[in-house]
Formats: sequence, structure tokens, C-alpha cells
Amino acid sequence: MFDFDKIVERKSDKCRKWDHAYVCSRFGNVAEGFIPLWIADMDFTSPPAVIDGFKRIVEHGTFGYTWCFDDFYDAVIAFQRERHQVEVEKAWITLTYGTVSTLHYTVQAFCKPGDCVMMNTPVYDPFAMAAQRQGVQVLANPLRVEANRYQLDFNLVEAQLKAHRPKLWFFCSPHNPSGRIWCADEIRQVSDLCKRYGTVLVVDEVHAEHILDGNFVSCLASDCAAQDNVIVLTSPNKAFNLGGLKTSFTIIPDAALRQRFRHQLEKNSITSPNIFGVWGIILAYQHGLPWLDALRSYLRSNAHYLADALQTHFPAWKMMNPESSYLAWVDVSADERSATELTQHFAQQAGVVIEDGSHYVQNGENYLRINFGTQRYWLEESIHRMRQHY
Ligand SMILES: Cc1ncc(COP(=O)(O)O)c(C=O)c1O
Repeated sequence: MFDFDKIVERKSDKCRKWDHAYVCSRFGNVAEGFIPLWIADMDFTSPPAVIDGFKRIVEHGTFGYTWCFDDFYDAVIAFQRERHQVEVEKAWITLTYGTVSTLHYTVQAFCKPGDCVMMNTPVYDPFAMAAQRQGVQVLANPLRVEANRYQLDFNLVEAQLKAHRPKLWFFCSPHNPSGRIWCADEIRQVSDLCKRYGTVLVVDEVHAEHILDGNFVSCLASDCAAQDNVIVLTSPNKAFNLGGLKTSFTIIPDAALRQRFRHQLEKNSITSPNIFGVWGIILAYQHGLPWLDALRSYLRSNAHYLADALQTHFPAWKMMNPESSYLAWVDVSADERSATELTQHFAQQAGVVIEDGSHYVQNGENYLRINFGTQRYWLEESIHRMRQHY
């Protein structure tokens, strides 16, 4: 029904992932004809229902100011109920301009310079930027690898919370870059610790829709995290490939936290939404679920393909099981070359652009991150080129 194998020409839309000038500015001298397996952006067109909805808006031809009308709230509430079995109230939802900028506003709302924010490393690097750009310290809590899977070290977490009393804990659930899904018991422990040490739990759930192996538990599940101390950031951007619309939303059950957060948004005039952004959320959540389920099967099979190919052709490397997302996290510590050398080598010699794990704040130096949210053809071609130029 949906053809995810169909190659989508992406250079003309000037997306960062495929743009030659942009890629050279990031990865050095990369020849034209490269295959980009880096930034978390998929190479699939969005669900047909989303595209048709946008076409209707474009054909209508008026792009005036809009607002958060009820369809937006209804779509979010229904989606959260159907996909994550959580009951969200309309009053808890606030539209924002992308998850990353919301992390910044959250720091502005709850921290002052000199405070610190806890995060579990390696982690999506804008978590650190959101703190550092406000003069707030990063309190890095390293994840521990056990049997090639990340674990939270709760003893260390507690010692760090006690010693440093961070105002916020940026918790990535599921985790980027590894795809690790946190179970209810782990989330409960995270939440209990936050309550004990006066830390607000800020949870980024943007990768929750691509569950490949396991069950996602939202921090909004009432028997899980304390609802008076949690801020959830999410969006359909990762799930439906809508990141360029720069629109997301925040769910905060507690009225006092919500008021403080909204006050900060008002100070920055984060008020009425982008017309395509708000409609993108509605269209994706209302009509995109069959597409999303088909996509998950495709991603699952890409993950299996990549795991097999790496094991066969690069036996020294160890890929974590991507329980969610479309990002493979690969331990290359047994390779003779460092992850930085490998990424530079593959970009410049093989024309395959992958991420160096050292970008993920801390504790990712021996890893590569490979984006498999693309047509199988590109994955096969990348493996072929990497083998040739290893
Ligand atoms: C964990 C995580 N949060 C947020 C984002 C970006 O979200 P947005 O496009 O809504 O700013 C990404 C993108 O890769 C991500 O991996």
C-alpha cells in the first residue's frame, strides 16, 4: 500500500541531509554522489493524507494567522490515547515551536545561570546546548553498557542528584542515540529520584512512535512518573518526517509548572502557530496511523538488514539493538581506527556520511550512529561502498 522502497529525490528541496554544500561544511571534502546516513531525517515522503491536506491549504491560497483550534487538541488527545494509552487533558497541552527550542525555553523558565541540568550520556547534543547557552551547567550522568544495552546507574544518579541538586533532568525516552526504551520500573525510579531531590523531570518522547522491539511506556502513564513533576515534549516530527515545520507541543499536567513554562513562552512571544505546523500535527495524527505502522515494519527490516550486514562485513563492530527509532548505535572500539577517523574516512573516501558518536555530549566517543531511515537500496549501496573502502 505504501512504497517505502521508492527512491525520493531530495536534493531539490534543499534538505540539510542531502545538500552537498551543507554536508561539506560539516564533514569536509565529500564528493557529489554521497549517501547521507547522518542527521535524524528520513528519506520517505510523509503520509499521503498529510500531503493531500497541505495541497488543499496551498490551493486555497491564504496563509494568514491561525490559532490552536480544537481539532489540534482533539488530535493530540486521541493520538496519545490510542498509541500510548494515556489520558491527556486539553488544558495540559501547549503548542511550541519545535522540541529543541522548547528545551531552551524550559531551561530559561526553571533555571538561572550557575544551576545545572542532568542528562544521561551519550545523548542528543542539543540537550547540552539548551543548558549551556543559558549559562547553565551540564550534569552528565554516563549510561552504563551491559550486554550491549544501556542501563541507568541509579546509585551514581542519586549521588549526583544529592551533590548537585539539578533543577531539571532532561530524560530522553526512548533514548537517542541508542533507541533504548525505558520500562515502567525505570521511569518510576527516575521520577521518584526527581521528587526526592527537587528536580523537575523533562521528558523528550519524540522517538516514541517508531517502536521496533519492545513496549514504549509514556511518562504520562499515571502509575509511572509523578504527574505533578513532569514535563513531556513531543511532536509528530520524527514519526512522520515533518521536522522542517518546526512545530511541536508540550504536555504538563501540573498547573503551577505549566504556568511558569507558559509565562516563559509569552516572554518570547511563542503564541500563535505556523499554519502548516498546526495542520501537520492534525493531519498526521488523524490520518497517518496506517502509514506509520507500515513504516515501522519497513524500519524493522532495515534494522535487521543492517545488523546482519555489519556483523558479516565488519565483525569487530557491535551494533546495539535499536529498540526504537531509525538510528543504529555501533560500538567500534575494537576497530584499529577511532570513530572520528572512520567517519572522516567513509565520508571522504566512500562517500558515505555517518555520524561520529563523539557529538553526543559525552561517553559516545567509540561509536558511530548510522541512520537507516532510508530506502533499502541506499543501505545496501552504503555497505557495498564501505566494504570497498574500509
Ligand atoms: C531526542 C530528540 N529530540 C528532539 C529532536 C528534534 O526535535 P524538533 O525537530 O521538534 O526540534 C530530535 C531530532 O533528532 C531528537 O532526536
